[in-house]
Amino acid sequence: MTRTRPWRTAGAAALLVALMAAGIAPARAEETAAPAYSAKGADSCLGCHDDPALLSLFKTKHARPRDDRGPFGHGGLQCEACHGPGGAHVRARGKQPAGIVDFGPHALAPPARQNAQCLGCHQSNVAHEWAASQHAASEVPCAACHTLHATHDPVLATATQAEVCTSCHQAEHTDLFKPSHHPLREGKMACSSCHAPHGSQGPFLLIGNTVTETCTSCHSEYRGPFLWEHQPVAEDCSNCHDAHGSAQPSLLKTRPPFLCQQCHEGAGHPSIFNGPQGLPGGGAPSAYLLAGGCVNCHTQVHGSNHPSGRLLMR
Ligand code: HEC
Ligand code: HEC
Ligand code: HEC
Ligand code: HEC
Ligand code: HEC
Ligand code: HEC
Ligand code: HEC
Ligand code: HEC
Ligand code: HEC
Ligand code: HEC
Repeated sequence: MTRTRPWRTAGAAALLVALMAAGIAPARAEETAAPAYSAKGADSCLGCHDDPALLSLFKTKHARPRDDRGPFGHGGLQCEACHGPGGAHVRARGKQPAGIVDFGPHALAPPARQNAQCLGCHQSNVAHEWAASQHAASEVPCAACHTLHATHDPVLATATQAEVCTSCHQAEHTDLFKPSHHPLREGKMACSSCHAPHGSQGPFLLIGNTVTETCTSCHSEYRGPFLWEHQPVAEDCSNCHDAHGSAQPSLLKTRPPFLCQQCHEGAGHPSIFNGPQGLPGGGAPSAYLLAGGCVNCHTQVHGSNHPSGRLLMR
């Protein structure tokens, strides 16, 4: 039995009763007893913890006095609904943190212990997906993303969410600053437009079952089916696009013709960079063609519904 973290042993109370009945009083009852809650709820905490930043909790959904599902509803444990039993902490005038659960990536309480405090109430909307998610597997605490003592939790707002996520995901932070990017920096989209941070059925915590399904939830014009499919498009949008950002226009992984030439080698016509000599039948030099790529002619690169669109040109 651990002495310093009574919560680790769910059966601590039962065991204590058994020990008492057998006349074996534990040497340090306070540490082995079921942790006690403070007598006066939040009032006993606020006497010491009166930092205005902490008090902003009272402007959030968690502090609604008439929401019986929440910490401050009828019979609610108030501060201790999240922070755990604080009786010993109060009696020790704050000096002894035992029993108190603190939150965040650098907290004393281990992530699983922190998250259990939250998941007890958030069964229906979070717990189900969470258990199998990559974030749970990597022991990311809820409070690494969520800030609860704040009028507005930054991770819940489109404009501020990316900053929270990229505090850990540096590569995506770099991508957002590339010339072509989804409008996250502009505050019009969030990481959660594509990702389900609590867990998902798809790969990479995506909201869809596949990359393509995720993309076409917004870009429905490319969902198909097309009369003339372009196989890599039907397969996976990320064959050609980088979702997070690219130095190439249109979030392309590389620029045509190189993009196309990863798969097409001299097919039908020499697939060299578009000089006039590269075109079917040769032809006069043309600034338009020299500057362009394959998509100048094969404009329907995502697929075509035109009866004669086999070559994706109309
Ligand atoms: C008598 C004053 C006092 C009371 C009452 C008190 N605390 Fe504390 N609390 C402290 C002090 C002092 C610390 C800092 C302890 C330390 O840094 O080791 C602390 C630390 C904490 C921490 C950890 C914060 C951190 O920075 O790691 C939490 C969470 C906390 N208290 C919550 C509560 C709750 C909930 C209650 C009410 C049940 C409560 N406290 C009642 C004085 C108090
Ligand atoms: C005593 C139950 C309870 C506990 C414990 C609890 N919550 Fe909640 N939480 C609620 C209720 C009730 C709501 C409001 C739901 C609603 O009305 O949409 C809520 C709302 C939220 C919201 C949405 C806030 C918003 O503005 O929309 C987040 C995020 C959240 N909780 C995270 C957490 C985290 C993280 C923890 C653990 C540190 C936690 N909760 C602990 C009951 C609880
Ligand atoms: C990786 C970051 C991250 C972690 C970790 C995380 N969340 Fe969230 N959470 C979010 C984001 C982002 C949203 C907003 C989702 C949206 O807008 O679709 C959210 C929304 C919520 C909501 C409100 C929406 C709803 O589904 O009712 C609750 C409640 C919530 N989270 C609780 C939790 C709990 C409990 C945990 C820990 C078990 C947790 N979250 C862990 C990022 C996170
Ligand atoms: C719904 C869950 C929840 C409730 C209710 C709650 N807290 Fe917290 N508390 C947290 C989380 C999560 C953190 C981590 C920082 C944050 O999210 O703002 C935290 C952080 C703290 C800290 C440490 C602050 C720091 O700077 O490190 C103290 C002290 C604290 N809470 C005291 C309280 C007191 C006092 C109450 C009651 C008035 C209370 N909390 C109610 C979830 C909660
Ligand atoms: C437009 C949709 C979209 C948005 C918005 C988006 N992602 Fe992604 N993300 C993806 C796709 C698709 C993948 C799958 C791998 C790939 O194609 O790069 C992915 C993969 C990831 C991965 C795994 C990378 C790897 O190689 O293992 C991380 C981490 C990630 N995204 C974080 C973020 C963060 C953080 C944000 C917000 C700043 C964000 N994403 C915004 C679509 C998106
Ligand atoms: C505290 C650090 C932290 C924060 C904050 C965080 N993540 Fe993560 N994330 C991780 C870790 C750790 C992993 C698992 C290891 C990995 O894949 O890098 C992960 C994995 C992922 C993955 C990849 C899953 C896979 O299959 O490869 C995605 C996508 C992702 N996070 C998105 C987000 C989004 C969106 C947010 C913000 C809402 C966010 N993360 C916030 C730490 C974090
Ligand atoms: C939540 C909706 C949404 C999802 C999901 C989404 N996009 Fe977008 N996409 C947008 C918006 C909004 C723009 C910007 C349009 C504008 O600026 O006119 C955009 C722009 C683009 C652009 C043009 C970028 C440029 O620089 O011109 C490409 C390419 C693109 N998306 C591909 C994808 C791919 C690939 C996926 C899947 C990984 C995806 N999108 C998922 C909403 C979405
Ligand atoms: C074979 C490579 C390839 C694949 C696979 C692909 N695209 Fe594209 N996409 C392109 C090219 C090339 C462009 C630039 C077109 C241009 O410049 O006319 C583009 C442009 C776009 C644009 C921007 C259009 C605009 O008007 O700015 C969006 C949005 C887009 N693609 C979405 C998708 C989606 C969604 C998927 C998956 C269903 C997908 N793409 C799969 C090659 C591809
Ligand atoms: C990831 C590999 C890949 C990439 C990248 C790719 N394609 Fe394709 N493309 C294919 C495959 C596979 C087919 C189907 C070939 C078949 O059915 O014989 C195809 C078919 C075509 C066709 C129709 C030819 C036919 O005979 O049906 C054209 C035109 C075409 N691609 C143009 C392009 C252009 C332009 C680009 C660059 C924007 C491009 N492709 C990028 C794999 C790719
Ligand atoms: C000036 C317009 C033009 C440009 C630029 C162009 N194509 Fe074509 N492409 C055509 C025409 C016309 C055909 C049909 C040729 C034929 O039937 O002889 C064709 C045919 C094809 C085919 C089908 C070949 C077959 O055997 O069915 C593929 C694949 C293709 N092009 C890929 C590309 C790629 C990759 C690029 C860029 C490197 C490119 N095209 C640039 C006009 C163009």
